Amino acid sequence: MIVAGVMSGTSADGVDVALVRLRGRGMKTRLELLAHGGFPYPAEVRTAVLDAMDSPAIAVHTLARLNFLLAEIYAGCVRRLERRSGAACELVGCHGQTLYHQGHAARFLGRKIACTWQTGDGSVLAQRLGVPVVSDFRPADMAAGGLGAPLVPFLDLLLFRHPKRGRIVQNIGGIANLTAIPASAGAGQVRAFDTGPGNMVIDALCQKLFGLPMDKGGKLAAQGRVLQAVLAEAMKDPYFRHAKRDAPRTAGREQFGREYVRGFLQLCGEADKNDVLATATGLTARSIGEAVRSLAKKNPYHDLFVSGGGTRNRTLMAMIEDEAAGLGIEVSTTDAAGVPSQAKEAIAFAVLAYQSWQRQSSNIPGATGAGREVILGKISYV
Ligand SMILES: Nc1ncnc2c1ncn2[C@@H]1O[C@H](COP(=O)(O)OP(=O)(O)O)[C@@H](O)[C@H]1O
Ligand SMILES: [Mg+2]
Repeated sequence: MIVAGVMSGTSADGVDVALVRLRGRGMKTRLELLAHGGFPYPAEVRTAVLDAMDSPAIAVHTLARLNFLLAEIYAGCVRRLERRSGAACELVGCHGQTLYHQGHAARFLGRKIACTWQTGDGSVLAQRLGVPVVSDFRPADMAAGGLGAPLVPFLDLLLFRHPKRGRIVQNIGGIANLTAIPASAGAGQVRAFDTGPGNMVIDALCQKLFGLPMDKGGKLAAQGRVLQAVLAEAMKDPYFRHAKRDAPRTAGREQFGREYVRGFLQLCGEADKNDVLATATGLTARSIGEAVRSLAKKNPYHDLFVSGGGTRNRTLMAMIEDEAAGLGIEVSTTDAAGVPSQAKEAIAFAVLAYQSWQRQSSNIPGATGAGREVILGKISYV
């Protein structure tokens, strides 16, 4: 079966689509990537999405419109990739655009509630493409007591487990998250969590200080020096000092969005703009380094495979290599293992949709903290 995976992450930079041929089921699933592509959001859509994520007050009609508009945009992206590649999908797995994610329950109107919200309506997408769509993957895991994230470990385990080598698979999107797979591990031994910010703080500072959406190639950070005192202070954030560092934890714009960036700038005081950017880049690298160090105390790891937009930031990648060097861990992008680093997350949602279509569970309780394995997502038929 050919399945399209559609991913649009917290960076709100755009949509990644993968067309994947799938056979088998569960942990015996076999996959072949047929094509993949990245489609940036038009600037005004990106702004609207960022506003919707980070806003304490927004009109309900704007959210409802965004929900339908994003589905139209996703449909267009899938069609473009189908045309370009000559492959046609029979099923779609669409992550949607997260507008809010709160993995841990907090009191709300007298009850403890955890919640998440991904927009981009599945029915609209199904009607436009003429094939069934699986969407809204996270609520089922949360209803079963999980954080609803990360969900990519199912794919990571499928593609990267190795009989002799311990492997860490690190994605750097807006948020950075890893999957740690000890040598010859089964699903029970896999650990996964968000290490902290990926590109989110870097992007926001770039916009604020340079009027640019991103630090292309990491060139601006390369011209600065890491402010060590600021970095040490930032690493004291409770998010990084989690008592059990390999326990499920999840982050988003709620932790590292606008408010966080304001505080970070305050810590930097009058520092040079490039130094500020270098320090934010250092924060992403150090928080990944700390996570890897604490994992390496329990199990030997040999490889660190990195994916996501962050791999294109050379300054960041060099800092991550420095962090890993002392541990004897080799750093490469997932491309080295045959998985295009810009397509992995989209491939994951094709694979997850395929599992749900076959009524197979695909959350990994060791990663999300869920009480049990559940079938993820909701299906929109044509
Ligand atoms: N050429 C590049 N140089 C530096 N950073 C880049 C480059 N291309 C993409 N990025 C970073 O990657 C981000 C997008 O990464 P992505 O994996 O799509 O994240 P998400 O899943 O959050 O959408 C961009 O916002 C930007 O910060
Ligand atoms: Mg993206």
